Amino acid sequence: MLPSPAVATPQPVVMPGLTPNVAGRWRGVPAPVGDSAIGREAADSRVTGPAALAAGGCCAWPLPLDASCAREARWVFREAVACLGLPDDQVHDGVTMASELAANTLHALQNVAFDGTARWPEAGAPELWLYLRRREGRWELVCKVFDSLAGWKHGPPPGTGRTRPQTESGRGLQVVAGLSGGRWGHHLTRSRLGGWKVPGKAVWFAQPVAAECVPAGLGHTRLRPCHASRRLEAMLADRGLGGSLLHAEEAAAGISVLSVRRGLTVWCRSGRISWRTRAGSYEHRTLTDLEDVVEQIVCLCEELDCGYGAGRTGRDRVR
Ligand SMILES: Nc1ncnc2c1ncn2[C@@H]1O[C@H](COP(=O)(O)OP(=O)(O)OP(=O)(O)O)[C@@H](O)[C@H]1O
Ligand SMILES: [Mg+2]
Repeated sequence: MLPSPAVATPQPVVMPGLTPNVAGRWRGVPAPVGDSAIGREAADSRVTGPAALAAGGCCAWPLPLDASCAREARWVFREAVACLGLPDDQVHDGVTMASELAANTLHALQNVAFDGTARWPEAGAPELWLYLRRREGRWELVCKVFDSLAGWKHGPPPGTGRTRPQTESGRGLQVVAGLSGGRWGHHLTRSRLGGWKVPGKAVWFAQPVAAECVPAGLGHTRLRPCHASRRLEAMLADRGLGGSLLHAEEAAAGISVLSVRRGLTVWCRSGRISWRTRAGSYEHRTLTDLEDVVEQIVCLCEELDCGYGAGRTGRDRVR
C-alpha cells in the first residue's frame, strides 16, 4: 500500500523498499494553504499523494535520477490506480507505458539542480503525474512523465516509425504509441514538485476509464463558478504562475473571470470553463476538470514564453 496522502502540506513520502532517498529528501513542496486568502476550497487541490487520483486531483511523484526510475514508475502506477479497479490488461499496459516514459527521462537529466551540499535534487528532477479527466463525455486516466528538458535529445521530437530489427534502441515510444492506441503526446509544461517550478516537457498517454471505475462522487461533483475559479487560481499559483493572476466576479451573472496574463483569460460559468487558444479557437472543460484545465493553461503559458507560433503545439490537444 502507498502511504496515506499528505493533505495541507503535501510531501512525497518514503515508500517502503523503494528508493526512499528520492521521495524522502525531495524538498520545496507547495506552501501550506492555511494562511492563504484562497481559503479552504483550495485545500483539496493541494493533495499530491496517490489519494489525489480518487479525489479528482493529480498524484505527483518524484522519480529517481538513475535506472531505478522505470521500476519506481511501474510501482507507483500500479499502486496509485488500484483505487480505480481497472481491468488487469489495462493496468499491465499502463505499467509498461509508464515504465518506458520514465526510462526516457534518463535522456533528459541535464537541467536538474542540486544544492551543492547534497546529492539530492533541489529542482528539475523527473516526476510522474496521474490524474483523471473527461474528454468528450468520457473519462480517461492520464499518465504524464515530466522532465526538465523542454526539447528532445536530438532536436526534433522523435518519430515513431518502424525500427530495423537489428537496432537496439528506439522502441520505447513505439510501444507507448501502440499500447495507447495513438492516445499519447508531449507538450511544454512546468514541474509540480521541487524547490521551484522548472520549465520542461511532459510526455503522456491516456487510457479510457469505464464509468463504473470512476471513483464514487467524482462524476457528480458540483462546483460553483466562483469556487472553481478560486481553486484554479490556487492551482496556477502552485505552478508558479501566481504573479500576474487577476480575478473578477460577476456573481449576479454567475460568471467568474481569471486573467492569467496578457491575452490569456479563463471564464468560469455555470457548468463549464473556457479559454481562448493561441490559434483563436475556444477550449471548454467541465468545471470539475480543473487538473486538466491547469495543465492546458500552464502549457499555453510555456508556449507563449518560448515564442511558439500558433501553428506549433504539443500533442496535448489530440482528441
Ligand atoms: N524524455 C526525453 N527527453 C529527451 N529525449 C527523449 C526523451 N524521450 C525520448 N527521447 C529521444 O527519443 C528517442 C526515442 O525514444 P525511445 O524511447 O523510442 O527509444 P530509446 O529510449 O532510444 O530506446 P528504448 O528502445 O530503450 O526505449 C530517444 O533515443 C531520445 O533521443
Ligand atoms: Mg526509451
